[in-house]
Amino acid sequence: MNFVSTLLVLTSTILVMFCTKCGSYFTLPFSYGAHKIYSGAEFVKCSFVECCTDEYVSPDIDKLNDILIKELYGQEIARQAIINALRGHLTTNPPKALSMSFHGPPGTGKTYISQLIAKFLYKYGEESKYFHFFNGRNDFPLESKVDEYKEELYKIIISGLDKCERSMFVFDEVDKMPEGLLDVLVQFLDYNTSIKSWRYTSSSINTRKAIYIFLSNTGSSRIIQYLLTLWQQGKSRQAARLQDFEYLTSVGAFNEKGGFHHSDAIQSNVIDHYIPFLPLEETHVRKCLEKAFINRDVNPTSEMIEEGLSYVIFGPPPHNLYATAGCKRLEQKVASIIYAKKTKRTDL
Ligand SMILES: Nc1ncnc2c1ncn2[C@@H]1O[C@H](COP(=O)(O)OP(=O)(O)OP(=O)(O)O)[C@@H](O)[C@H]1O
Ligand SMILES: [Mg+2]
Repeated sequence: MNFVSTLLVLTSTILVMFCTKCGSYFTLPFSYGAHKIYSGAEFVKCSFVECCTDEYVSPDIDKLNDILIKELYGQEIARQAIINALRGHLTTNPPKALSMSFHGPPGTGKTYISQLIAKFLYKYGEESKYFHFFNGRNDFPLESKVDEYKEELYKIIISGLDKCERSMFVFDEVDKMPEGLLDVLVQFLDYNTSIKSWRYTSSSINTRKAIYIFLSNTGSSRIIQYLLTLWQQGKSRQAARLQDFEYLTSVGAFNEKGGFHHSDAIQSNVIDHYIPFLPLEETHVRKCLEKAFINRDVNPTSEMIEEGLSYVIFGPPPHNLYATAGCKRLEQKVASIIYAKKTKRTDL
């Protein structure tokens, strides 16, 4: 290649690099060619690594619903509310990001369901690059560093949305987060927000397709109290409705200590749904135990279920209707029951 043609190639490359978006007649053929090469390279890249495409981000809400019907016990209100919210958000061009706040006592399925949502949203589930998980206690331990955390969180979210608009952000143990931290999210959760990308200052980021989930125990005592009142009136938990809890949980989140305490996110109404997780009763715990045995290829006898149940503590007194830790740690108990049975058999 002589000097002139080298110069020509160089000039056109520079023009294409700087003018791919300017759309002038002069650069059109170049930018078209560059676009083709870029798309081809993207296509090859995306057959090896995860990309923000339909192949990797493919929500299957029907399947999620089927699994929840079969495997999530005692959370009818939560299941229906979450499925409806996801359907509404994923099938239309949403006006804002979806934000749901899950409230309820320990071991009732809050983390479990958010993991399942990731599983049916991304091909790689929780391992997806577009799934971001934060734990209040571990990731943001110090009250004194709240401003630093805010800045960090802002950058993580911007860069996450820049990579994929359909990103999912889960904040666990919100009640252990420093007060005020979540205020930084308001701009991402609100309507019609246009935020500049920090890498390409000319382009703005679409904040509307993302999903934010907050998990906490705040509001639990109000939820339990409400169910107990129903029970005392002779009504079953099936009589409870989502509307009965929304106010209780949002007031709880706003007033109880933690990330949502007196927060802008609640005051400015950017949380779309407050989802109650009800305390689990003995029938639900039995089902959890059964599932845990079956997952380990053991068909449990009633004696084995009773043994598992003997580890579960029920409260609050005097009626003791609900498992205080829900179905938490039952898998470990089941594992040791099976192990004990096996060793007994070999000892004989
Ligand atoms: N409603 C439920 N139906 C079926 N299994 C459940 C349910 N709730 C909890 N489990 C089981 O118990 C385990 C622990 O539940 P999970 O971690 O979701 O509790 P949590 O509500 O997030 O509690 P915490 O508030 O302490 O974080 C789950 O992995 C799941 O196996
Ligand atoms: Mg949890």
